[in-house]
Amino acid sequence: MNNKKILVTGGLGFIGSHTVVALINKGFKVIIIDNLSNCHTEVLNGIQKITGETPEFHEIDLREKKKVKQFFEKNDDLLGIIHFAASKSVGESIKKPLMYYENNLCGLLNILSFQSSSNLIFSSSCTVYGEADKLPISENAPIKKAESPYGNTKQIGEEIIRDFCRVENDFKAIALRYFNPIGAHSSAEIGELPLGTPQNLIPYITQTAIGQREYLSVFGNDYFTVDGTPVRDYIHVMDLAEAHVAALNHLIEGKEETNYEVFNLGTGRGNSVLQVIRSFEKATGQQLFYKVENRREGDITAAYANVEKANKKLGWQAVRSLEESLKSAWEWQKRCVKHKKYRLYFL
Ligand code: WQD
Repeated sequence: MNNKKILVTGGLGFIGSHTVVALINKGFKVIIIDNLSNCHTEVLNGIQKITGETPEFHEIDLREKKKVKQFFEKNDDLLGIIHFAASKSVGESIKKPLMYYENNLCGLLNILSFQSSSNLIFSSSCTVYGEADKLPISENAPIKKAESPYGNTKQIGEEIIRDFCRVENDFKAIALRYFNPIGAHSSAEIGELPLGTPQNLIPYITQTAIGQREYLSVFGNDYFTVDGTPVRDYIHVMDLAEAHVAALNHLIEGKEETNYEVFNLGTGRGNSVLQVIRSFEKATGQQLFYKVENRREGDITAAYANVEKANKKLGWQAVRSLEESLKSAWEWQKRCVKHKKYRLYFL
């Protein structure tokens, strides 16, 4: 009997599905909860093709307290919980703040109230830092006022978990602050499935390259950076997934220094938008048509991670290059357009 049962909420999403693959690859037995609000059950087939296993799946909305309670009563032997399930669009959160606070925070509160495992990994974000005063950004950098309700739900989520750990000494949690997750599994069986017009840079680039979009808008080239375009830390989603396994093992093996810890997950390198475009063209041989337009409201100039803490304490570091990440995103995009179930996402 495999007692290495891990619950992954939001496990059919972009980062969640890649983390499920990384967990199965390391011998864990995965149970997925997802409400299918921003993903497709076809992802289960992708996971099966990669790993040979189809994880147990429950369609549950974490806001439904009774269903969450019943799930944990039936699954009272979990070794850990990785909590991804949340709405994640900065722009959408500004238009629908109440939906974001209810979905992202009530879901977390129900997990903490009924959980049946003392090891929690929480999906957080570098957005908590805002425009950092110092680069690279360390975990002890000041938390800035969130620019969006989405970013605020990540800040509040961290505070809820921190306060819960303060009173529940046997409960252990790690918050992972992601920089910019990109790319797809090398098999092109799973990847990022943005609904509608992509907000993030890489899906917009691949949809432009495949002819789905007329051109890429580069939001501003008057920033104080190497070429005037904003700088970000773009990390391959499989590197990010493997970091979740390292963080989980850190708790399972009792290596935590305190029962609530925070880690940045990035490559430690910054790239500008124009550098990403050049790298994409080099990696794929596809020329990209773009136009420089006005800045996007809420964008910061630069953000890239100091990853020393995760390197040393979790024994993890990102190993995939920017070109490899962009190439994998392109292979996934080409696969999607041919896929009978995913094609609709890109029409
Ligand atoms: C990256 C850069 C844009 C689109 C995201 C998430 C956030 C967090 C970090 C997880 C910016 C530019 C973009 C386009 C462009 N992740 N851009 N044209 O804003 O750094 O934040 O990753 O929590 O939640 O939102 O990522 O990909 O939107 O933008 O020029 O069509 O690309 O100005 O400089 P961002 P992004």
